[in-house]
Amino acid sequence: MKNKGLEGKAVCITNPTVGRLYAHRIISSLNSAGFVTSMIDIPDGEEYKSLEWLSHIYDKLIEYKMERQSPIVALGGGVIGDIAGFAAATYLRGVPYIQVPTTLLAQVDSSVGGKTAVNHPEGKNLVGAFYQPKMVLIDVDVLKRQGCKGGFG
Ligand SMILES: NC(=O)c1ccc[n+]([C@@H]2O[C@H](COP(=O)([O-])OP(=O)(O)OC[C@H]3O[C@@H](n4cnc5c(N)ncnc54)[C@H](O)[C@@H]3O)[C@@H](O)[C@H]2O)c1
Repeated sequence: MKNKGLEGKAVCITNPTVGRLYAHRIISSLNSAGFVTSMIDIPDGEEYKSLEWLSHIYDKLIEYKMERQSPIVALGGGVIGDIAGFAAATYLRGVPYIQVPTTLLAQVDSSVGGKTAVNHPEGKNLVGAFYQPKMVLIDVDVLKRQGCKGGFG
């Protein structure tokens, strides 16, 4: 991460379902790399990929005094990746972010390509941006928790 110019503080955005399984590993790995790490929890579900929860993320990023080189780590499926990516695209006019996709859809589709968005009451993904992550870290072993035998079974 340091060799990508990322430093200082980091924040991991996740939901309670995924956070319970993997957040401790992300935090310990970021802390070992010298980051001061905070967490932002979004409730689990498509309905929370919303402008209201995006605003909650901005509130927390400001509270944690996240700076321009402070990475956002999106830990979860496509919902978390999309809302965390859009927060990264827009907070301080753009901060670095890293995708750690934990569903099959997120690993093969939503974490790559740089499409970020939140939903609007009038429709899905109506507010968003194209914004590429600095890194996409994929571990197919996490799919076992989702019942995908052998990762892609
Ligand atoms: N940006 C893009 O290019 C793109 C492409 C396709 C879809 N999407 C978006 O992706 C979203 C759907 O993503 P999704 O299908 O990953 O759904 P999701 O993010 O809601 O995840 C599905 C469920 O699996 C849980 N989960 C995630 N990882 C887990 C793990 N390792 N073990 C156990 N449970 C786990 C989640 O908490 C959730 O309950 C939609 O909002 C869609 O619009 C975006």
